[in-house]
Amino acid sequence: MVQEQYSTDVMVTAAKDSMQKEDITAIFRTHWRTGYGSVSPDEALYIRDLIARDRPRDFIEIGTGSGLSGGLICHFLEENGGETFVTLDHDNTFFGDNSKENGFLIEPIYPGGAVKVEKRPFTTGLDLDDMNRRFDMAFVDANHQHPWPLIDTLALWPHMRGDGPRTVIHHDLFLFRKQDIVFGIGPKYLFDQFPESHREASPAGGGNIFSLSLAMERDRLEEIAANGISLPWSLRTPLQDSHLKRIFAMIDRHYSPYLGQVFREAAAKFNHMDRFRTGL
Ligand SMILES: C[S@@+](CC[C@H](N)C(=O)[O-])C[C@H]1O[C@@H](n2cnc3c(N)ncnc32)[C@H](O)[C@@H]1O
Repeated sequence: MVQEQYSTDVMVTAAKDSMQKEDITAIFRTHWRTGYGSVSPDEALYIRDLIARDRPRDFIEIGTGSGLSGGLICHFLEENGGETFVTLDHDNTFFGDNSKENGFLIEPIYPGGAVKVEKRPFTTGLDLDDMNRRFDMAFVDANHQHPWPLIDTLALWPHMRGDGPRTVIHHDLFLFRKQDIVFGIGPKYLFDQFPESHREASPAGGGNIFSLSLAMERDRLEEIAANGISLPWSLRTPLQDSHLKRIFAMIDRHYSPYLGQVFREAAAKFNHMDRFRTGL
Protein backbone atom coordinates (compact mmCIF):
# COMPACT_ATOMS: atom_id res chain seq x y z
CA MET A 1 0.00 0.00 0.00
CA VAL A 2 1.13 3.56 -0.61
CA GLN A 3 0.06 6.62 1.33
CA GLU A 4 -1.23 9.80 -0.19
CA GLN A 5 -2.58 13.08 1.04
CA TYR A 6 -5.68 14.93 0.02
CA SER A 7 -5.17 18.68 -0.06
CA THR A 8 -6.61 18.84 3.44
CA ASP A 9 -3.98 16.53 4.91
CA VAL A 10 -6.12 13.44 5.44
CA MET A 11 -4.07 10.32 4.88
CA VAL A 12 -5.52 7.74 2.55
CA THR A 13 -4.27 4.45 1.26
CA ALA A 14 -4.47 2.96 -2.20
CA ALA A 15 -3.23 -0.21 -3.82
CA LYS A 16 0.27 0.27 -5.23
CA ASP A 17 -0.74 -0.58 -8.77
CA SER A 18 -3.74 1.77 -8.77
CA MET A 19 -3.82 5.16 -10.44
CA GLN A 20 -1.94 7.69 -8.37
CA LYS A 21 -2.48 11.38 -7.88
CA GLU A 22 0.09 12.27 -10.53
CA ASP A 23 -1.57 9.97 -13.12
CA ILE A 24 -4.94 11.55 -12.44
CA THR A 25 -3.51 15.06 -12.54
CA ALA A 26 -1.88 14.31 -15.90
CA ILE A 27 -5.27 13.21 -17.29
CA PHE A 28 -6.83 16.44 -16.04
CA ARG A 29 -4.08 18.51 -17.65
CA THR A 30 -4.73 16.83 -20.98
CA HIS A 31 -8.53 16.82 -21.00
CA TRP A 32 -10.04 19.24 -18.50
CA ARG A 33 -11.19 22.73 -19.57
CA THR A 34 -12.79 25.57 -17.63
CA GLY A 35 -16.57 25.11 -17.49
CA TYR A 36 -16.45 21.32 -17.69
CA GLY A 37 -18.02 20.99 -14.22
CA SER A 38 -16.25 17.75 -13.41
CA VAL A 39 -14.89 16.31 -10.21
CA SER A 40 -11.45 17.57 -9.18
CA PRO A 41 -8.36 15.31 -9.04
CA ASP A 42 -8.58 14.89 -5.26
CA GLU A 43 -12.31 14.12 -5.48
CA ALA A 44 -11.41 11.47 -8.06
CA LEU A 45 -8.96 10.04 -5.51
CA TYR A 46 -11.80 9.78 -2.99
CA ILE A 47 -13.88 7.83 -5.53
CA ARG A 48 -10.85 5.64 -6.27
CA ASP A 49 -10.48 4.78 -2.58
CA LEU A 50 -14.15 3.91 -2.17
CA ILE A 51 -13.95 1.64 -5.21
CA ALA A 52 -10.81 0.02 -3.77
CA ARG A 53 -12.68 -0.49 -0.47
CA ASP A 54 -15.97 -1.88 -1.85
CA ARG A 55 -14.70 -3.53 -5.06
CA PRO A 56 -18.01 -3.00 -6.92
CA ARG A 57 -18.71 -5.26 -9.87
CA ASP A 58 -21.35 -3.01 -11.43
CA PHE A 59 -21.19 0.77 -11.11
CA ILE A 60 -23.71 3.39 -12.19
CA GLU A 61 -23.19 7.12 -12.66
CA ILE A 62 -26.10 9.57 -12.91
CA GLY A 63 -24.82 12.68 -14.72
CA THR A 64 -22.33 11.89 -17.48
CA GLY A 65 -21.19 15.42 -18.42
CA SER A 66 -17.91 15.39 -20.35
CA GLY A 67 -17.15 11.84 -19.20
CA LEU A 68 -14.08 12.87 -17.24
CA SER A 69 -15.29 11.23 -14.03
CA GLY A 70 -16.54 8.27 -16.08
CA GLY A 71 -13.20 7.61 -17.78
CA LEU A 72 -11.40 7.67 -14.43
CA ILE A 73 -14.01 5.49 -12.70
CA CYS A 74 -13.54 2.88 -15.45
CA HIS A 75 -9.81 2.73 -14.62
CA PHE A 76 -10.56 2.42 -10.89
CA LEU A 77 -13.06 -0.35 -11.57
CA GLU A 78 -10.62 -2.27 -13.74
CA GLU A 79 -7.96 -2.03 -10.99
CA ASN A 80 -10.44 -3.63 -8.58
CA GLY A 81 -12.11 -6.35 -10.60
CA GLY A 82 -15.10 -4.27 -11.75
CA GLU A 83 -17.05 -5.39 -14.80
CA THR A 84 -19.53 -2.74 -15.94
CA PHE A 85 -19.82 1.03 -15.90
CA VAL A 86 -23.20 2.53 -16.85
CA THR A 87 -23.62 6.30 -17.12
CA LEU A 88 -26.93 8.14 -17.55
CA ASP A 89 -27.61 11.67 -18.69
CA HIS A 90 -30.91 13.37 -19.33
CA ASP A 91 -29.67 14.80 -22.63
CA ASN A 92 -26.79 14.27 -25.02
CA THR A 93 -25.28 17.70 -25.59
CA PHE A 94 -22.38 18.53 -23.34
CA PHE A 95 -23.18 21.78 -21.50
CA GLY A 96 -19.48 22.79 -21.40
CA ASP A 97 -19.12 22.63 -25.21
CA ASN A 98 -22.26 22.35 -27.30
CA SER A 99 -20.35 20.83 -30.21
CA LYS A 100 -19.69 17.68 -28.18
CA GLU A 101 -21.81 14.80 -26.95
CA ASN A 102 -21.95 13.89 -23.28
CA GLY A 103 -19.36 11.31 -22.37
CA PHE A 104 -16.98 12.27 -25.19
CA LEU A 105 -14.00 12.00 -22.83
CA ILE A 106 -14.67 8.47 -21.63
CA GLU A 107 -12.97 6.77 -24.55
CA PRO A 108 -9.87 9.00 -24.74
CA ILE A 109 -9.35 8.43 -20.99
CA TYR A 110 -10.35 4.75 -20.93
CA PRO A 111 -9.81 3.40 -24.46
CA GLY A 112 -11.13 0.01 -23.46
CA GLY A 113 -10.30 -2.95 -21.27
CA ALA A 114 -11.98 -5.29 -18.86
CA VAL A 115 -14.77 -2.86 -17.97
CA LYS A 116 -17.77 -2.73 -20.27
CA VAL A 117 -18.90 0.86 -20.74
CA GLU A 118 -22.52 1.74 -21.38
CA LYS A 119 -23.50 5.34 -22.13
CA ARG A 120 -27.21 6.01 -21.84
CA PRO A 121 -28.18 9.48 -23.06
CA PHE A 122 -31.72 10.79 -22.57
CA THR A 123 -32.03 8.68 -19.43
CA THR A 124 -32.50 9.63 -15.77
CA GLY A 125 -32.72 7.80 -12.47
CA LEU A 126 -36.46 7.49 -13.13
CA ASP A 127 -35.65 5.07 -15.97
CA LEU A 128 -33.85 2.64 -13.67
CA ASP A 129 -36.93 0.47 -13.21
CA ASP A 130 -37.08 -0.14 -16.96
CA MET A 131 -33.40 -1.12 -17.07
CA ASN A 132 -33.95 -4.00 -14.64
CA ARG A 133 -30.32 -4.03 -13.45
CA ARG A 134 -28.49 -4.25 -10.13
CA PHE A 135 -25.51 -2.12 -9.11
CA ASP A 136 -23.00 -2.24 -6.28
CA MET A 137 -22.00 1.42 -6.21
CA ALA A 138 -23.27 4.69 -7.66
CA PHE A 139 -22.10 8.22 -8.28
CA VAL A 140 -24.75 10.94 -8.50
CA ASP A 141 -23.61 14.18 -10.11
CA ALA A 142 -26.67 15.37 -12.04
CA ASN A 143 -29.28 17.93 -11.03
CA HIS A 144 -28.27 19.48 -7.69
CA GLN A 145 -31.50 21.38 -7.13
CA HIS A 146 -33.49 20.02 -4.20
CA PRO A 147 -35.16 17.47 -4.28
CA TRP A 148 -33.34 15.86 -7.24
CA PRO A 149 -30.40 14.29 -5.35
CA LEU A 150 -32.94 12.77 -2.92
CA ILE A 151 -35.11 11.52 -5.79
CA ASP A 152 -32.07 9.98 -7.52
CA THR A 153 -31.09 8.29 -4.25
CA LEU A 154 -34.58 6.85 -3.77
CA ALA A 155 -34.63 5.70 -7.40
CA LEU A 156 -31.30 3.91 -6.86
CA TRP A 157 -32.08 2.10 -3.59
CA PRO A 158 -34.22 -0.70 -5.12
CA HIS A 159 -31.49 -1.33 -7.70
CA MET A 160 -28.52 -1.61 -5.35
CA ARG A 161 -27.31 -5.14 -4.59
CA GLY A 162 -28.27 -6.03 -1.06
CA ASP A 163 -25.12 -7.83 0.07
CA GLY A 164 -22.73 -4.87 0.13
CA PRO A 165 -22.53 -1.40 1.69
CA ARG A 166 -24.59 0.03 -1.19
CA THR A 167 -22.40 3.11 -1.39
CA VAL A 168 -23.81 6.10 -3.23
CA ILE A 169 -21.39 8.97 -3.80
CA HIS A 170 -22.73 12.48 -4.29
CA HIS A 171 -20.94 15.54 -5.67
CA ASP A 172 -21.28 19.26 -4.88
CA LEU A 173 -22.04 19.25 -1.17
CA PHE A 174 -20.80 22.85 -0.99
CA LEU A 175 -22.45 24.19 -4.13
CA PHE A 176 -25.01 26.07 -2.04
CA ARG A 177 -22.22 28.09 -0.40
CA LYS A 178 -21.02 29.36 -3.79
CA GLN A 179 -24.40 30.47 -5.11
CA ASP A 180 -25.98 33.88 -4.75
CA ILE A 181 -29.45 32.43 -5.32
CA VAL A 182 -29.26 29.03 -3.70
CA PHE A 183 -30.56 26.48 -6.17
CA GLY A 184 -27.97 23.76 -5.61
CA ILE A 185 -28.73 22.82 -2.02
CA GLY A 186 -29.96 19.30 -2.84
CA PRO A 187 -26.76 17.45 -1.88
CA LYS A 188 -26.51 19.37 1.42
CA TYR A 189 -30.12 18.67 2.41
CA LEU A 190 -29.61 15.00 1.58
CA PHE A 191 -26.36 14.67 3.51
CA ASP A 192 -27.84 16.34 6.59
CA GLN A 193 -30.75 13.89 6.81
CA PHE A 194 -28.53 10.80 6.98
CA PRO A 195 -27.32 9.44 10.32
CA GLU A 196 -23.58 9.70 10.91
CA SER A 197 -23.31 5.92 10.74
CA HIS A 198 -24.44 6.02 7.10
CA ARG A 199 -22.67 9.09 5.71
CA GLU A 200 -19.11 10.20 5.17
CA ALA A 201 -18.04 13.68 4.11
CA SER A 202 -14.69 13.72 2.37
CA PRO A 203 -12.28 16.61 2.78
CA ALA A 204 -11.54 16.30 -0.96
CA GLY A 205 -12.49 19.28 -3.11
CA GLY A 206 -12.66 21.43 0.01
CA GLY A 207 -15.39 19.15 1.39
CA ASN A 208 -17.43 18.97 -1.80
CA ILE A 209 -17.99 15.23 -2.11
CA PHE A 210 -19.56 12.65 0.18
CA SER A 211 -20.84 9.14 0.27
CA LEU A 212 -23.90 7.49 1.77
CA SER A 213 -24.53 3.90 2.64
CA LEU A 214 -27.98 2.77 1.55
CA ALA A 215 -27.60 -0.47 3.51
CA MET A 216 -30.70 0.06 5.60
CA GLU A 217 -34.29 -1.10 5.87
CA ARG A 218 -36.89 0.62 3.75
CA ASP A 219 -38.64 2.17 6.78
CA ARG A 220 -35.46 3.91 7.88
CA LEU A 221 -34.77 5.30 4.42
CA GLU A 222 -38.38 6.46 4.22
CA GLU A 223 -38.06 8.51 7.42
CA ILE A 224 -34.91 10.16 6.03
CA ALA A 225 -36.70 10.82 2.74
CA ALA A 226 -39.84 12.18 4.44
CA ASN A 227 -37.75 14.76 6.28
CA GLY A 228 -35.75 15.63 3.17
CA ILE A 229 -38.68 16.06 0.82
CA SER A 230 -40.41 18.32 3.34
CA LEU A 231 -37.61 20.90 3.19
CA PRO A 232 -38.30 23.78 0.75
CA TRP A 233 -37.60 22.77 -2.83
CA SER A 234 -35.00 24.84 -4.66
CA LEU A 235 -35.93 24.30 -8.30
CA ARG A 236 -35.27 26.90 -10.99
CA THR A 237 -38.58 25.98 -12.55
CA PRO A 238 -41.36 23.76 -11.18
CA LEU A 239 -41.44 20.12 -12.20
CA GLN A 240 -43.84 19.44 -15.06
CA ASP A 241 -46.85 17.25 -14.35
CA SER A 242 -45.41 14.45 -16.47
CA HIS A 243 -42.24 14.46 -14.37
CA LEU A 244 -44.16 14.54 -11.11
CA LYS A 245 -46.27 11.60 -12.24
CA ARG A 246 -43.13 9.57 -12.92
CA ILE A 247 -41.66 10.47 -9.53
CA PHE A 248 -44.87 9.51 -7.72
CA ALA A 249 -45.00 6.26 -9.72
CA MET A 250 -41.44 5.40 -8.66
CA ILE A 251 -42.25 6.16 -5.01
CA ASP A 252 -45.51 4.19 -5.13
CA ARG A 253 -43.75 1.20 -6.70
CA HIS A 254 -40.97 0.90 -4.14
CA TYR A 255 -42.08 2.69 -0.99
CA SER A 256 -45.07 2.85 1.34
CA PRO A 257 -48.29 4.87 0.84
CA TYR A 258 -47.07 7.03 3.74
CA LEU A 259 -44.04 8.26 1.75
CA GLY A 260 -46.21 8.73 -1.34
CA GLN A 261 -48.48 10.95 0.69
CA VAL A 262 -45.58 13.00 2.11
CA PHE A 263 -44.22 13.48 -1.44
CA ARG A 264 -47.61 14.64 -2.72
CA GLU A 265 -48.01 17.10 0.14
CA ALA A 266 -44.50 18.48 -0.45
CA ALA A 267 -45.20 18.91 -4.18
CA ALA A 268 -48.43 20.77 -3.41
CA LYS A 269 -46.49 23.07 -1.09
CA PHE A 270 -43.29 23.63 -3.00
CA ASN A 271 -43.67 22.87 -6.70
CA HIS A 272 -44.50 26.37 -7.88
CA MET A 273 -42.68 29.60 -8.62
CA ASP A 274 -42.31 32.07 -5.82
CA ARG A 275 -40.05 34.95 -4.97
CA PHE A 276 -37.81 32.87 -2.74
CA ARG A 277 -36.69 30.57 -5.57
CA THR A 278 -36.51 33.06 -8.42
CA GLY A 279 -34.86 35.82 -6.41
CA LEU A 280 -37.07 38.30 -8.25
C1 LIG B 1 -21.81 18.26 -13.48
S1 LIG B 1 -22.21 17.31 -14.88
C2 LIG B 1 -21.50 15.75 -14.56
C3 LIG B 1 -20.00 15.78 -14.49
C4 LIG B 1 -19.33 14.45 -14.47
N1 LIG B 1 -19.87 13.58 -13.44
C5 LIG B 1 -17.84 14.62 -14.25
O1 LIG B 1 -17.39 14.72 -13.09
O2 LIG B 1 -17.10 14.67 -15.25
C6 LIG B 1 -23.92 17.06 -14.66
C7 LIG B 1 -24.61 16.31 -15.79
O3 LIG B 1 -25.87 15.88 -15.30
C8 LIG B 1 -26.82 15.96 -16.35
N2 LIG B 1 -28.15 16.02 -15.71
C9 LIG B 1 -28.81 17.08 -15.18
N3 LIG B 1 -29.95 16.71 -14.63
C10 LIG B 1 -30.05 15.37 -14.77
C11 LIG B 1 -30.99 14.39 -14.37
N4 LIG B 1 -32.09 14.69 -13.69
N5 LIG B 1 -30.72 13.09 -14.68
C12 LIG B 1 -29.61 12.73 -15.37
N6 LIG B 1 -28.68 13.63 -15.78
C13 LIG B 1 -28.90 14.92 -15.48
C14 LIG B 1 -26.41 17.19 -17.13
O4 LIG B 1 -26.88 17.11 -18.47
C15 LIG B 1 -24.89 17.14 -17.03
O5 LIG B 1 -24.33 16.50 -18.15
